[in-house]
Amino acid sequence: MVLLRFTAVLAFASFALGLPRQSPFYSKTPNQYGTKEIDTWALNPTGDAAVIRVKNEGYQQQELHLLAINAQYTIPSTCYGPANTDDFYTFLDDKTFLTVSPIKDDIWQLSIQHLNYTTLPPAYPPSAFEPQIIGQITSQKQIRQIVYAAKAGVLTLVTESQLILVKVIQDEGVAWSVKQYKTILENKDTIQLIDLKHEVISPNVIHTSSQRLSAITFGKNGQISWLSQKGEGFKRHLWILEGGTKWKAPLKFDHSPEQIIFSKDGSALYLLAGHNHQKSLFHLWASQPHDERPIEPTRIPSNGTIHSAIHVGITPLDHAHLIGLKSDASKGEGKELWVISHSPHEDPTYNYENIRLTYFT
Ligand SMILES: *[C@@H]1O[C@H](CO)[C@@H](O)[C@H](O)[C@H]1NC(C)=O
Ligand SMILES: *[C@@H]1O[C@H](CO)[C@@H](O)[C@H](O)[C@H]1NC(C)=O
Repeated sequence: MVLLRFTAVLAFASFALGLPRQSPFYSKTPNQYGTKEIDTWALNPTGDAAVIRVKNEGYQQQELHLLAINAQYTIPSTCYGPANTDDFYTFLDDKTFLTVSPIKDDIWQLSIQHLNYTTLPPAYPPSAFEPQIIGQITSQKQIRQIVYAAKAGVLTLVTESQLILVKVIQDEGVAWSVKQYKTILENKDTIQLIDLKHEVISPNVIHTSSQRLSAITFGKNGQISWLSQKGEGFKRHLWILEGGTKWKAPLKFDHSPEQIIFSKDGSALYLLAGHNHQKSLFHLWASQPHDERPIEPTRIPSNGTIHSAIHVGITPLDHAHLIGLKSDASKGEGKELWVISHSPHEDPTYNYENIRLTYFT
């Protein structure tokens, strides 16, 4: 409620000052190509800007959009131009994003772009400077995912069976380059910890299992969490490793989690799980080793299906904010970006707010 009131106040203030009023961006022009929705997205570390690739149902070409994020009022997003369906995006810092694009056979090109955005009212629509090619890498296998570790300056490209490590180097604050330096074979039955700060890589096995392991996630201060599953159709269990101790969290939970999201401060975690033909986020306080009291995750109210989410922080009013991709077919909504906010200390049924950030459907 506070947020809604705030929006009203800002809208009034900008009107009074004769400033351009911010209004939601509707790209919903009825067309013969069907509806648009988000295909993939990347969020900057602060959580106040994103690059979004939008697909148009029945239409091959996708578009890249730029978004500045202020949960209290809508900043129009900008369509940057056509985008390649096989590209991957990640942010190197708040204002720089990197794109990995296949250019031929086994060659992938890496380029960066700087964003020009603000989230302060009256915000202008974000824009991006020309792409700057910073290098190429080779991979015989299709790349499936990319992850950037900012502290080590290492980009990891994940293929079906390998991890390709690439050092992203910034010289004197201007020129960027890349160096492909190591390929590691993935081992499905173990979780290995790789210290990226040293160029001599010796993976450290931290967990071995005959079960299927998934959703391996880092929390704050070296916490690591994952899900284990006996086999198809069995419920997934949550595991946590902290300070050399690992334990299975004693959950009182009827659903099978699919993803784990740590809060930025490590105090809580969220499980993304399906229930009643939809998918929601469930909040739980981080568990302690040897504590056998059952933990009952609390559902954060939302409509439709949440596909992915990132915890961006806690507001001065102690609301936790996540930004995620959500769709609601019952309302004709495709995948859109939302802020999902809640107070973890009170009954979330009355303490949540879902704020839509994009309007493609
Ligand atoms: C960023 O965009 C704004 C609005 O279009 C423009 O006024 C400003 O000059 C741009 N900044 C840079 C560094 O290009
Ligand atoms: C879910 O949808 C119902 C009906 O449209 C609405 O009243 C309710 O506020 C929605 N809940 C959330 C969390 O968006």
